[in-house]
Amino acid sequence: MNSWNEGYFTDSTYTYGYYRELSPHFLRWCLLLKGIAAPEITEDSCHCELGFGQGVSANIHAAAVPGKYFGTDFNPAHATNANELAEASGANAKFFEDSFEEFSKRDDLPQFDSVSFHGIWTWVSAENRRHMLEIVRRHLKSGGMVYNSYNCLPGWAPNAPLRELLTLYDHYKANGDTNARVKSAFKFIEDFIAAEPAYANIAPNFKSYFDNMKNLNADYIAHEYLNLDWDLMYFVDVVEQCKDAKLDFAMSAIPMETRQDMFLPEKAREFFKTVDNPIMIEQLQDYFINRQFRKDLFVRGIRRLSRTEAYDKIFNMRYVLLTPPEDVPMEVSTGVRKLNLLEEIYKPVLEFLAEGNYRPKDLHEYAAKTKIEATTLIELVTVLVSTGHVMPCQNDNAVKQVKRSCDRLNAHICERSVYGDAINFLASPLTGCGIEVGRFQQIFLNQYKAGNKTADKLAETTWKILSRLGEKFIVEDKQKLSKDDGGAFKYPRKVLETPEENLAHTKTLAEKFLTRVPILRAALIV
Ligand SMILES: C[S@@+](CC[C@H](N)C(=O)[O-])C[C@H]1O[C@@H](n2cnc3c(N)ncnc32)[C@H](O)[C@@H]1O
Repeated sequence: MNSWNEGYFTDSTYTYGYYRELSPHFLRWCLLLKGIAAPEITEDSCHCELGFGQGVSANIHAAAVPGKYFGTDFNPAHATNANELAEASGANAKFFEDSFEEFSKRDDLPQFDSVSFHGIWTWVSAENRRHMLEIVRRHLKSGGMVYNSYNCLPGWAPNAPLRELLTLYDHYKANGDTNARVKSAFKFIEDFIAAEPAYANIAPNFKSYFDNMKNLNADYIAHEYLNLDWDLMYFVDVVEQCKDAKLDFAMSAIPMETRQDMFLPEKAREFFKTVDNPIMIEQLQDYFINRQFRKDLFVRGIRRLSRTEAYDKIFNMRYVLLTPPEDVPMEVSTGVRKLNLLEEIYKPVLEFLAEGNYRPKDLHEYAAKTKIEATTLIELVTVLVSTGHVMPCQNDNAVKQVKRSCDRLNAHICERSVYGDAINFLASPLTGCGIEVGRFQQIFLNQYKAGNKTADKLAETTWKILSRLGEKFIVEDKQKLSKDDGGAFKYPRKVLETPEENLAHTKTLAEKFLTRVPILRAALIV
């Protein structure tokens, strides 16, 4: 074990995930939706991410949202990767290799409009949480935003002992690299469950939770479960601790949760008629949802907007549709309830957003056309942004400022993708967020930009690249249907062996890519 890592797992680096909640533009929109004043975003804004991991989110936002970006992660491999991405984009970003303690003592940092930490709070010691809050206390502007996501109780209560078993085994028995450690810990737990300990038989979902865990990436498992520190908290305890940095809880960064009438079932809503304290409501909701993971948005000194001002700000923004209208499901699960979207209301809005090759549009345009009520339109946008099919856009000035850094970052990510499956998101200058674009779509994108615009040409040029790397596609064998261990039907997987089969499969993927081009173009990625 290293000494600088303070018990945090550092034997392998973290995954290349992307989270839109770390975008200052998205957080600002969430606050406005809730009727809370949020910092304006300009080229002078300053934003900071603590524990940025591989720095994918931090770099996508540094490239896509105007401002200066700072961050720290004590793992040197993470800082190197983050700085390499920043160099590629040319964004105004400085990523440090400091521990939170070191960073909290720096005297060369500006005042931040936002400080974010995703997936850190639970996994570090109480002392490190104090350092994080000290950074916020010293460097967050009045009215600034803080995003904190963490594992919570009560949702984690039944499975926390499983995590304890993994760390117990890892601490006393495991050795080798990350894969070997995770593999041997899993084998240990399998033997443990087979020996029928009373706990595993009684705890709800203990076995199925473990079965699902086995499908996850070993690096993710290691960072999630093999740390020395893992402190589960209730929401109210986090709220109390954040008061040390003068933070007020503003909202959950899940837009639909601004509307209890949408996301909770009827009996729960009935129950909540008897509770009026907002913190108590938020905490009790975690019981109703059986929530395991919170995405909290705090503000240093909340200032409420009048309903009209908040509505104006939400209405004046433009929105872009990122999914073809026919592919947007009319049933949404909130985790505790299925919401059936009224087709006669949702479909025309989706068609409107798709008009003009998905050109982004503000809500005034639609309201003027249809006379639909403002409250209904805001409800629609709340649901569609929550599910990620629609995103709020930045203004033209911001888009102009960030276009070049997004282009540079995206070109770099696409180039890297040729050699492996790492970063599956590209930066959108329009939404100030990342958009999922997988490895093959990234290779197609490069080819498309180079002038290969038909499925045949895209397939031919892409397959040339993949075959040179010795790669072959693995697909489902539709000729053979079999049952898995749990009795569910599935198609077995097979390797496509011949160049002809691989080329044909590449063409199918290229055709799919071409149908997505209008959306990627609207998001200013093509
Ligand atoms: C679970 S990862 C989350 C990474 C990133 N936020 C994400 O979600 O992709 C936690 C990160 O915090 C960093 N970290 C943990 N303790 C730290 C400390 N005391 N000082 C600085 N960085 C720390 C780790 O190196 C790791 O990259």
